[in-house]
Amino acid sequence: MSIDADRLKQYTMLTWGYKQGESVALMIHLGVRLGLYQAMDGAGPVTPGDLAAITGLHERWLREWLRSQAAADLLVSDEGETFELQAEAAMVLAHVDTPTYAGGVFAHLRDPQVADGLANAFRTGLGLTYDGQGEGSEQHVEAMLAPMARALLVPRVIPALEGVVDLLVAGTKVIDVGCGTGLAIELMAEVWPNCLFEGYDVSERAVAGAQKRFDGVDNVTIYLAGAEELPPAQDADLIMTLDCLHDMPRPDLAMSAVRKAISTDGTWLIKEIKSSPDWSKNRRNPMLAMMYSTSVASCMSSAMSSADGLGLGTLGMNPAVVESMVTEAGFTRFSMHDLDDPTNLYYEVRP
Ligand SMILES: C[S@@+](CC[C@H](N)C(=O)[O-])C[C@H]1O[C@@H](n2cnc3c(N)ncnc32)[C@H](O)[C@@H]1O
Repeated sequence: MSIDADRLKQYTMLTWGYKQGESVALMIHLGVRLGLYQAMDGAGPVTPGDLAAITGLHERWLREWLRSQAAADLLVSDEGETFELQAEAAMVLAHVDTPTYAGGVFAHLRDPQVADGLANAFRTGLGLTYDGQGEGSEQHVEAMLAPMARALLVPRVIPALEGVVDLLVAGTKVIDVGCGTGLAIELMAEVWPNCLFEGYDVSERAVAGAQKRFDGVDNVTIYLAGAEELPPAQDADLIMTLDCLHDMPRPDLAMSAVRKAISTDGTWLIKEIKSSPDWSKNRRNPMLAMMYSTSVASCMSSAMSSADGLGLGTLGMNPAVVESMVTEAGFTRFSMHDLDDPTNLYYEVRP
């Protein structure tokens, strides 16, 4: 077999590029953890000595770290002696309250033992639940999803749902299924305190985090229970499944349970990853490799964590799948909202 030298070089660079990404990710982790991006924010060009004086950290270590960051194009440096965090870079790495903030995603380093569990899953077919994905996985999920949720959920998403704001202002029952650590409920309870909120999730760690978050709060109750176990009370005017149906082994059973829990004219808000059944369309997504990798490591893994799991995974719930599954579950009204969220679509579904 003849080997094309250019193609060999290309694959070599590509593969080492991913290794470089892993190494740089550890440096970003250190920058976030040590507050280095915040220390450089608005400071203009700084030397390692300046940064040492600002942070109290060791100059030699900072010099090497700064050079790693400039080499990765996250800092600007012409001569490798002074380094600047540009205003736009600060919006991604230093400003925790902007929707573009990505630093939080690097705060959590994956437990190396999780790779053993994943390798085993390839043999058995049985994936890891969120709790099986390593200590702190629930904080990682929140860090990843929070910037966009803070920017969009209350100001954009809920107002897009017909008649829902009026109900929330008056006070009604809201259920967040697959609530994780409870961020969505917190954002909504601040604005609509007359509502009664219930959160359900199967992750013990996420539920413990949410229960701690709402300790002493009267109008929020968090249950350690799956979507399939929602009480069939038909009294919730708003049910939300945010970024979680594709993680569930049996989203079909979850949907039937939502149908029995929702009030006759209630609204079900579904947030799901933007994707298409068409591979070539998905290929236009510049983050597709990260999304499929996340699916193997997290979403599809969770969706395959029981023997009867459907295993939809990160890109498995495109609009056609959502519409057909909710129709099958007994819902008759369906509309889709595309709301300035680069990653997700929002669906408004009613009985
Ligand atoms: C990607 S996280 C999303 C969390 C939260 N909704 C948010 O937007 O931040 C997916 C969540 O779905 C939960 N989950 C998985 N299977 C579930 C099930 N059968 N019932 C309820 N929650 C489930 C996981 O434990 C995890 O907390």
